[in-house]
Amino acid sequence: MVKINSCVFISGKGTNLRELIKSSREYNFPITIKLIISNNEKAKGLVLAKKFSIPFKIVNFKKHLYETKVLNEMRKRNISLICLAGFMKILPKSFLKKFKGKIINIHPSLLPKYKGTKTFERMLKNDEKTAGCSVHFVNEKLDSGKIILKKRFDISSNETIETLKARTQKYEYRAFSEAVTKLYLND
Ligand code: GRF
Repeated sequence: MVKINSCVFISGKGTNLRELIKSSREYNFPITIKLIISNNEKAKGLVLAKKFSIPFKIVNFKKHLYETKVLNEMRKRNISLICLAGFMKILPKSFLKKFKGKIINIHPSLLPKYKGTKTFERMLKNDEKTAGCSVHFVNEKLDSGKIILKKRFDISSNETIETLKARTQKYEYRAFSEAVTKLYLND
């Protein structure tokens, strides 16, 4: 099948990236990963880029003209989907405009609840009974774009921040790939 060229943005561990790479190597998965962008040269996820021979760029998002650099790299590879997988920077409005409807993000809560950071801490503090993750389109407002899909599960009585994070991530791995499939195959 002809696959959509995509780019994954990361900042850290890259476990969601790892799962996306796995999926992308399946014949029926609609996207291929042509580029990985990291704002952090120490991001562990970059090891995966090397392991799977995926081109990667480390970009200093504070530097003048960084946006042009990213755009050029994307154009070269004809990228039409951007997956934010643990990417901890806010993308500028001008960039979002150029890729309107083509940037998706994974967030570790059942949006619209718990946007932003420290999601697990806040959930436990509020004695939430249900947790989960959401894959959504990215717009100018933090964690607020249209939701593509969510996965939910029950929080257990002895849950800690660590267990909640680990459990959420397991759901994220399936959610991200399912969301991508939903975008291109179930229209
Ligand atoms: C994920 O839990 C995601 O929800 C959040 O950042 C985390 C990234 O983890 N946005 P990883 O880098 O994919 O391991």
